[in-house]
Amino acid sequence: MKKIALITGANRGIGLETARQLGKKDITVIVAARSKEKADNAADQLISEGIDAKGIQLNVTNDEDVKAAVAYLEKEYGRLDVLVNNAGIIQGEEFAGDSTITVTQKDLYDTFNTNVFSVVNLTQQLLPLIKKSEAGRIVNLSSILGSLALHADENSPIAGSKPFAYDASKTALNQFTVHLAASLKDTNIKVNSAHPGWVKTDMGGEVAPMEIIDGAKTSVELATLDENGPTGKYMHLGKELPW
Ligand SMILES: NC(=O)c1ccc[n+]([C@@H]2O[C@H](COP(=O)([O-])OP(=O)(O)OC[C@H]3O[C@@H](n4cnc5c(N)ncnc54)[C@H](OP(=O)(O)O)[C@@H]3O)[C@@H](O)[C@H]2O)c1
Repeated sequence: MKKIALITGANRGIGLETARQLGKKDITVIVAARSKEKADNAADQLISEGIDAKGIQLNVTNDEDVKAAVAYLEKEYGRLDVLVNNAGIIQGEEFAGDSTITVTQKDLYDTFNTNVFSVVNLTQQLLPLIKKSEAGRIVNLSSILGSLALHADENSPIAGSKPFAYDASKTALNQFTVHLAASLKDTNIKVNSAHPGWVKTDMGGEVAPMEIIDGAKTSVELATLDENGPTGKYMHLGKELPW
């Protein structure tokens, strides 16, 4: 049976490329984006490349969109095999530098709303459908910047990069990964955090060393793990990162 994958924020960047690479593995990809137009454009692009894709509107911070997406998947497929929680933002902060003293409540709230609260909400509402899969896979797009261990080490390569709202949101997302994996340990569902690398996207910027094609690889690996694969881990290209 053909697998069904939902990728949030799939209209550009790592999300679109993840949908492409999963689609090339003969998985039906549900390309979710903030507007129907963006979703349809991305799906049309993938369809023109021979991929089985369908666009749906899903602003992850909008609970009505979440409920409509769940209802759509239930009606069309009756289950979900792969959920890639890819949509994410960084707001009012620069990656290089430290916003700890200056971050605003609004930027903190908005960042947590997209990067954490919405991931928990969407995942909770989709869980009944993921439990109907023979081998559900949940991938949370984290970042190496969510690593407490690396931030606490002043000699680590990320020590000088402290956008507080973004980093704290990814740390919280990592906690969700660990907690959810523990909650689901007696099921066939695996839950992992992915660090894609520093990738040339609108978010990563032109100077990022990794191309998008490689930036999607960790998400694709974790979305297609076999039964012996890890759960409750923080991974980058097959290697574990320190929490
Ligand atoms: N690029 C990197 O170097 C890097 C490194 C570590 C982690 N990551 C993580 O990887 C993920 C993808 O990053 P990227 O570099 O591909 O970012 P990007 O190019 O900025 O794309 C972000 C995607 O998320 C979508 N999005 C944002 N808010 C949304 C919402 N409320 N509802 C639905 N979609 C929403 C955007 O949609 P719109 O087009 O509508 O804005 C866009 O499709 C993020 O979670 C990011 O934190 C990236």
